[in-house]
Amino acid sequence: MDSILRWKTLTRFSWLMVVLAALFHFSSGISVVTKAVQGMAALSCNYNISVDELSRVRIYWQKENNMVLSIISGNVQVWSQYQNRTFSDITNNLSLVILALRLSDRGTYTCVVQKTEKGSFKVEHLTSVMLSIKADFPTPSIIDFEHPSPDLRRILCSTSGGFPKPSLSWLENGEEVKAVNTTVYQDPETELYTVHSNLDFNVTSNHSFMCLIKYGDLSVSQIFNWEKLKEDPPGNQIGVPILIGVSVV
Ligand SMILES: *[C@@H]1O[C@H](CO)[C@@H](O)[C@H](O)[C@H]1NC(C)=O
Ligand SMILES: *[C@@H]1O[C@H](CO)[C@@H](O)[C@H](O)[C@H]1NC(C)=O
Ligand SMILES: *[C@@H]1O[C@H](CO)[C@@H](O)[C@H](O)[C@H]1NC(C)=O
Ligand SMILES: *[C@@H]1O[C@H](CO)[C@@H](O)[C@H](O)[C@H]1NC(C)=O
Ligand SMILES: *[C@@H]1O[C@H](CO)[C@@H](O)[C@H](O)[C@H]1NC(C)=O
Ligand SMILES: *[C@@H]1O[C@H](CO)[C@@H](O)[C@H](O)[C@H]1NC(C)=O
Repeated sequence: MDSILRWKTLTRFSWLMVVLAALFHFSSGISVVTKAVQGMAALSCNYNISVDELSRVRIYWQKENNMVLSIISGNVQVWSQYQNRTFSDITNNLSLVILALRLSDRGTYTCVVQKTEKGSFKVEHLTSVMLSIKADFPTPSIIDFEHPSPDLRRILCSTSGGFPKPSLSWLENGEEVKAVNTTVYQDPETELYTVHSNLDFNVTSNHSFMCLIKYGDLSVSQIFNWEKLKEDPPGNQIGVPILIGVSVV
């Protein structure tokens, strides 16, 4: 068992060198597939084999230096990070199909097809595909949250499930206004961010606030309008909040 493992490690290493050398050689023409987190991606190996050939070939799908899936003598093996959500579509360009995409799935995948030739396996075909995962924040929501004092209202702006790390700001007439509390949280497992922020305002005048969340080159925003009603007695104001959500790409 031990010697088999060592042999496997050795052959994998020499195979890696072949892959790396080929990658350097062909890396300019690499195709890019962009999918949303939690979605599905099919990465084409650009190669077809017939079912009866399957027993005589080895197929490897690898991401950078980690194995994803292998088909050796028709036996499919899927590595743990990809288990239960990854398969190879042999009838469709030997595609690697990954479901429930995670942010950590982003990277360059390489497909290698080896065939036997006089008893030893030779690289017959090699393709690399870059998988890019996007995680867009939904339009934030603003809720009327608390009444810290009769004159004050506290509103809460929040959104979650995006990447990269967001920055949140509140604007009124294009000027930044100070939030009470802004927190940015990253889920350690999914790497996705949640952001929320509180803003206090005085109900005795009209307001139009924009909650602006920027992440990478993108941003999403929501507008909260407050209309003070003239006839209300002081200390018992009833306003009308109006929300307008905007996503900017
Ligand atoms: C399979 O690969 C061929 C050749 O590159 C391409 O024309 C075809 O669209 C691919 N099929 C799918 C379903 O991706
Ligand atoms: C593989 O077979 C599919 C289905 O017959 C075809 O659409 C595709 O073009 C073939 N791909 C290659 C690389 O020949
Ligand atoms: C895949 O599914 C099987 C059966 O449901 C389960 O035993 C196994 O733990 C799962 N593996 C992973 C990595 O989730
Ligand atoms: C800010 O939010 C954090 C987490 O929600 C909370 O623990 C903290 O008490 C808040 N601080 C203020 C000043 O509201
Ligand atoms: C709200 O605004 C009114 C009128 O400008 C002012 O009298 C009051 O002190 C303010 N309340 C707070 C809590 O800032
Ligand atoms: C507040 O907004 C309402 C509706 O737009 C308007 O009728 C009212 O004059 C405004 N009040 C002040 C103090 O600007």
